Amino acid sequence: MKVNILAIESSCDETAASVCINGQIASNVIASQKIHEQYGGVVPELASRAHMQNIVPVVDVALKNAGCSIKEIDAIAFTQSPGLIGALLVGGQFAKSLSLALEKPLIAVHHMQAHVIANLIEDPKPDFPFLCLTVSGGHTQIVLCESPLQMKVIGQTIDDAAGEAFDKTAKILGLPYPGGPLVDKYAKEGNPQAYAFPEPNIPRLDFSFSGLKTSILYFLQNAGKSHVYKESIQVSEVEKNAFIEAHLADICASVQHRIITILLNKLTKAAKETGIRSVCIAGGVSANSGLRQAIQELGAKNGWKVFIPKFEYCTDNAAMIAITGYYKYLANDFVDLSVTSTARAEWG
Ligand code: KG4
Ligand code: ZN
Repeated sequence: MKVNILAIESSCDETAASVCINGQIASNVIASQKIHEQYGGVVPELASRAHMQNIVPVVDVALKNAGCSIKEIDAIAFTQSPGLIGALLVGGQFAKSLSLALEKPLIAVHHMQAHVIANLIEDPKPDFPFLCLTVSGGHTQIVLCESPLQMKVIGQTIDDAAGEAFDKTAKILGLPYPGGPLVDKYAKEGNPQAYAFPEPNIPRLDFSFSGLKTSILYFLQNAGKSHVYKESIQVSEVEKNAFIEAHLADICASVQHRIITILLNKLTKAAKETGIRSVCIAGGVSANSGLRQAIQELGAKNGWKVFIPKFEYCTDNAAMIAITGYYKYLANDFVDLSVTSTARAEWG
């Protein structure tokens, strides 16, 4: 049986479409929205408008690149949650309309589950059960995966996500949005041991990044003299900016090093507690070169099998929605047209 799935992703600021044929990605198209850069973050209303403009051409190109006509599509998968509600609604309504017009089944996908399933797009694929460290702009989770559709979140952030920690650091340093890739770039030239940022003591397998953000803020307000806010040594804007300029690479490397150790210490704890030795990473922050290298080294030391998706499957994309849609198709997991998009949805 040949199964062609068309998938649509529109949860944040990427309009994406993908076609998957029998579980293989045949096309993966993304239109990134540059308009948000000038605002230093994603503006929800502008994201929705850009999705409206992009969605038809992006789907057209995805079908064309896959060599597939719209009539050959067997089911339509879309990101139902979580995300910006206006953005989700554009992809969701488009998918529902297609499903109605083509009389083909509709598949609702949870964006975070799809990030994990991105590890099943290409060989070598992880064996079950595996642990996945899912690190994105809105989430930081450790997920225990028993099978493609059976997952449990066993740890997560109690405040900021790892991606937010990168982006907020970049903002404090005066770097443009999205700052994560820039922190990664400057960190390559710096010394990760230059400045010791504190590691929070959070129970169980949960994470916290808000204290780190405050620590960075105070550290810069004191031009590297202290992590603690002390009015007496708070320096002028000029002195602060001069400090940042002179030490940008070391600051980025040290912050990145701390974010990575927070993530990997919890992953190590999860591997010990569960006895699972197959580990993956997923989500936008898994594109970070320092994290990719550190998890490989840790895996070699601990005897883990480590799986890292290709860059294009780490950040938001529709291929991960298509593969999740494929597994849901095989499981007859469909929704009807009464389905609604939701900004937040518990899962796992
Ligand atoms: O998964 P994603 O594309 O979107 C969400 O679902 O949130 O993740 C976006 C996040 C942003 O915070 C971005 O700064 C971060 O991933 N990111 C990175 C890198 N590439 C993307 N963070 C650190 N280093 C990178 N190379
Ligand atoms: Zn994402």
